[in-house]
Amino acid sequence: MAIIFNENAKEFHLFNNELSYIIKVLKNNQLENLYFGKKVTHRESFKHLVEREPRAFTCAVYEGGHTFALDHIKQEYPSFGTTDYRYPSHKITREDGSTITNFEYVAHNIYKGKKCLKAMPCTYTEEEHEATTLEIKLFDKVLRVELILSYTIFENYGVITRSASFVNLGEENLVLNSAMSASLDLPDDNYEMIHLAGAWARERHVKTRKLQSGVQAVQSIRGSSSSNHNPFLALKRPETTEDCGEVYGFSLVYSGNFLAQVEVDSYGASRTTIGINPFNFLWNLGKQEMFQTPEAVLVYSDRGLNGMSQTFHELYRTRLARGHFRDRVRPILINNWEATYFDFNEDKILSLAKEAKELGIELFVLDDGWFGKRNGDNSSLGDWYPNLEKLPNGIDDLSNKVNALGMQFGLWFEPEMVSADSHIFEEHPEWVIHTPERHMSHGRNQFVLDFSRKDVVDYIFGMMDKVLSNSSISYIKWDMNRNITEAYSHGLEAKKQGEFMHRYILGVYDLFDRLTTKYEKILFEFCSGGGNRFDPGMLYYAPQGWVSDDTDAIERLKIQYGTSMVYPLSSMGSHVSAVPNHQVNRITPIDTRAAVAYFGTFGYELDLNNLDEEERKIVKEQVNFFKTHRELIQKGDFYRLLSPFEGDGNETAWMVVSKDKKEAIVGHYTVLSKPSDIYHRFKLKGLEEKFYYEVEQKKTKHYGDELMNIGIILSKDYSDNEAEFYSDFKNKKDFMSKIFVLRAK
Ligand code: DGJ
Repeated sequence: MAIIFNENAKEFHLFNNELSYIIKVLKNNQLENLYFGKKVTHRESFKHLVEREPRAFTCAVYEGGHTFALDHIKQEYPSFGTTDYRYPSHKITREDGSTITNFEYVAHNIYKGKKCLKAMPCTYTEEEHEATTLEIKLFDKVLRVELILSYTIFENYGVITRSASFVNLGEENLVLNSAMSASLDLPDDNYEMIHLAGAWARERHVKTRKLQSGVQAVQSIRGSSSSNHNPFLALKRPETTEDCGEVYGFSLVYSGNFLAQVEVDSYGASRTTIGINPFNFLWNLGKQEMFQTPEAVLVYSDRGLNGMSQTFHELYRTRLARGHFRDRVRPILINNWEATYFDFNEDKILSLAKEAKELGIELFVLDDGWFGKRNGDNSSLGDWYPNLEKLPNGIDDLSNKVNALGMQFGLWFEPEMVSADSHIFEEHPEWVIHTPERHMSHGRNQFVLDFSRKDVVDYIFGMMDKVLSNSSISYIKWDMNRNITEAYSHGLEAKKQGEFMHRYILGVYDLFDRLTTKYEKILFEFCSGGGNRFDPGMLYYAPQGWVSDDTDAIERLKIQYGTSMVYPLSSMGSHVSAVPNHQVNRITPIDTRAAVAYFGTFGYELDLNNLDEEERKIVKEQVNFFKTHRELIQKGDFYRLLSPFEGDGNETAWMVVSKDKKEAIVGHYTVLSKPSDIYHRFKLKGLEEKFYYEVEQKKTKHYGDELMNIGIILSKDYSDNEAEFYSDFKNKKDFMSKIFVLRAK
């Protein structure tokens, strides 16, 4: 890994074993991108990569001669207003209303390691040698604004991280109307764009479309990253598969409004832009003030989509997630939400915890409804003290009682929210987000607190701190069940209202930071009405998140498969729930529910007291199974094998392989049972060709090359056993699954 600056050619070459990224200082001192892709050998100069075609003579505009139009140049951080008509990376308005910018190269700095962003989540290094950073300083002489573009290349990952900082060194009060985290111009448009779209209970479905001329984008303007679109897109070649071929992944370490878009210009070049959504955004950049964008993570892989995902997984699991639980196995939990909803009391909770303990479960999570006078979704958010009607002895006593049973205790909060029926709402109406003289829309009967205000964050921290410091709490679920409407802050002057959405998210990060710093041994799980804010920003503060409120095993196949495009298994909260399923009414076998939930951070979310003896036995076995394999599941390499988004979607398969390749676990799922079925086999991945693996559930042994080239054969040879065929046939059902554990001898 290195970053080399060639003084004569004025070129930067960032490279590691996987990728090269080459930037050139243009003759107008702005920056050109010469290349981003698979690693190429370093040389004195890459100036032969410069392409300048004289293009149309009418309509086009040039700086000087007829071959220098920014519209035709692949740029690093493009501006609008001169000779480029494509989507810009930034916009700044002066006091006189003009908006032209011209950032020229001044100097640069290359250093080992990586700096943290200011008050925002980002990837990090533990040792300096893990990464090298380049900061390019540019300056606009008229605005007197300094722009620092930061690039970090990691030694072991095909990753470049980027962010931009603007510092106003002049005498004017400027307004930043947009400041994207990264912009990347690729020379052609022969790509398919992959993104993750969805809705509540149907999060992160994989969508693929061919790039077309013009703009194609995904975004959020809801105040959080959202389940509708994830702050991620990938560009893959049409021939790229899961395992081979080129792909670029773009992911934003941010939890608020974002924009991720690709613009294909008239000459077939593709400009990808990712960052804070400029819609309704502005930032006042007063004298000596600085604004820093969130971090964008750019992955290059020539090992297909799975290669891209594995890079994101490793980076996000080990150098984005932090803290005590980053590398520790996560406790198996029981959450009372789908077991009781709001209808519980101390006896009920203790009876669930007792049963959970007997089944080997390690952590009891008390969900919504434990505070204020909350018995439904219409009251008490913000009143973070125990509901003494339900829990007469309080949370401290309950947590001790659960501990006495031999279980850890966890608690649900929704820190950003407030009910109309609450003390905060009555005492501090100005803390509740609303626009003067406008109707206040509710979501799930609740309103959003103005987290752009420090006094609000201080107050909520104080309330949570009181509960946490008095009780024995090992886990917190941080929920957020609605999006923002009528955005406006009573704590911001008029000209700063456009800063509100970003300031809100900074407030959320601030509270997270204070809590995780003070309570470093508490395991945090992020949640937002399921997976409505499942993004890399959250992962920095909490190593795991609730993937979806949809706990149906079959729905989860698509949701978890899509989530795995970017996010590691160690981040995916997944539980076994009751049937008929509470979201889709589907009845799936308990084995299949667990076989899906194993591929994540495992738990249960049903009334364990309703299990019959046979089910209790099964749950005990499942818990033991997960305990035996959780280290591998949390830290192994994940491979997608069969996609629920392809063909008729009837089969899904995936697997996780240990780093030394000696162990693997494979999950295979069939949605519907079919008549006159075909023979079924599927190929495994990531094994060591020469290792001789025992497949525990089949009691057979195979070399790795056989499993990867011929595959696992699912259909059986019944030639000598017709009776077995008929008994198997009777057991054939919809929603079946198979788990295979492989061990190399
Ligand atoms: C939405 C979450 O996703 C659920 O798991 C549960 O915590 C409810 N909120 C509680 O209101």
